[in-house]
Amino acid sequence: MKRSDAFELICPKCGNRLIKRGNSLYCGENHCYDVAKTGYVNFVLGGKKESGDAKELIEARERVMKKGYYRALYDFVKGEFSFGAGDVVVDAGTGDGSFAGKLKEFFPSAAVAGTDLSKYAISRAAKKYPDVFFAVANNRRLPFADSSLKALFGVFTTAFPEEAARVIAKGGFLVKITPGKNHLLGLKRALYENVRLNEEDESVPAGFTREKTIRLRGVYHAVGEEIKDLAGMTPYSVKSPRNSLERLYAMETLDTETEFRTDVFRKE
Ligand SMILES: C[S@@+](CC[C@H](N)C(=O)[O-])C[C@H]1O[C@@H](n2cnc3c(N)ncnc32)[C@H](O)[C@@H]1O
Ligand SMILES: [Zn+2]
Repeated sequence: MKRSDAFELICPKCGNRLIKRGNSLYCGENHCYDVAKTGYVNFVLGGKKESGDAKELIEARERVMKKGYYRALYDFVKGEFSFGAGDVVVDAGTGDGSFAGKLKEFFPSAAVAGTDLSKYAISRAAKKYPDVFFAVANNRRLPFADSSLKALFGVFTTAFPEEAARVIAKGGFLVKITPGKNHLLGLKRALYENVRLNEEDESVPAGFTREKTIRLRGVYHAVGEEIKDLAGMTPYSVKSPRNSLERLYAMETLDTETEFRTDVFRKE
C-alpha cells in the first residue's frame, strides 16, 4: 500500500478522490480498485477495447532498453531537471517501466509513478522497481487529481494533451519524446529502397508554452537476434514486405541512428 500513498489518486470512472480501506481504494460512488501484492493498482477493469502492448513486445523492448537504447535521453533528463521532495513525477505509457525506474534513481526523493494500458507490463514492472508506484491506466484518463503533478513524461506513447493539462500543476512540465526525423534511419535503409524521413509534430498543446525542443542523437548497435527485437518495437515489423524483413533478420549486425525528439512544455 505504501507506494500509492504519495499520490492524490482519483477514480477514473467518476473523478472522485480515492480513499484506502484495507487493500483496496474506494471512491464516494463505491467504485473499488484492489492494490496487488506487488503494490500496483489496476484502474482499467472490465471489458476493454484498448489493451496496450503484448507480452512479446514488452519483453523485446526490455532487452533493447537494457542495451542502452535510451542513454542519451537519460543523460538529458538527469541534467535538465531537479525533482525533489513533494514533487510527483509520472511516466505515462511506461511499458517495461525502466524509464520510470530511472526517474526514481535520478530523483530519489520525488514520488515517481509509471502507468500503462498493458497489465502484463505493469505487473512485471512493479516487481522490478519496488520504489515506483505502478498503475494500469489509460493515458486518456489518468488516476491523478487535477494539478497534482510536477511533471508528466510520455515516451513513444499515445498522447492526450487535454488530460496532461488537467493533471500537471501550474509551472510543471510535460515532456514528450517522439521519433526525430532521422530516428532509426539505418534500420529503414536496410528494409526499404526509398526511405522517407519521419514527420515531426511541431504543435504546442493548449495550456502549455514550449520550454525547449532538442534532438538527442545516438547510434544503436544490434547483433543477431537483437535486430529482430529492435524491428519488433517498430511498425516496420508489421508493415514491411516479408522478403525485406527476412533479409534484415539474416543480417549479423546492424548499426542505426537513434534520434529522440524531446519537447519540454511548461504548464501556464
Ligand atoms: C512504444 S511503447 C513505449 C514504452 C515506453 N514508454 C518506452 O519508451 O520504452 C508504447 C507504450 O504505450 C502504451 N500505450 C499505448 N496507448 C496507451 C494508452 N492510451 N494509455 C496508456 N498506455 C498506452 C503501450 O501499452 C506501450 O507499453
Ligand atoms: Zn468512482
